[in-house]
Amino acid sequence: MVRIGLALTILCFGIAACNGGSSDPVEQGRRVYVANCTACHNTDPGVDGNLGPAVAGSSTELLEARVLRASYPPGYTPKRDTGLMTALPFLEPQIPALTAYLASFDTP
Ligand code: HEC
Repeated sequence: MVRIGLALTILCFGIAACNGGSSDPVEQGRRVYVANCTACHNTDPGVDGNLGPAVAGSSTELLEARVLRASYPPGYTPKRDTGLMTALPFLEPQIPALTAYLASFDTP
């Protein structure tokens, strides 16, 4: 039993089924979103979450500014201004996947 458990753990890291690594950007983006965003944003990005607003259709420019630097593109009017969302700069490599995932929903 111990061996089977170990094998499953290795498989889990190896095929990236548990933590991103998909070759499909939309699927990859979904995994990143579920893991990092749904504590505050709705699991359906087209719907407001308990803390964060709907984010479906967010542009690369907006995601880079908001997720990486906790700021906004010039002239952008934020949907909310609580400042509760801190920057998550480690997600920089995931911005294209997040953009692809959020673009796969109808903009609210
Ligand atoms: C700690 C809670 C929290 C987490 C985690 C979080 N957000 Fe947010 N997010 C917010 C809140 C709250 C706002 C509204 C602005 C504010 O008050 O800070 C926001 C705003 C945004 C906006 C700007 C919406 C707009 O049009 O004004 C985007 C885009 C966004 N979040 C994307 C994400 C993504 C993508 C992730 C995951 C990588 C994420 N957020 C993780 C709470 C969170």
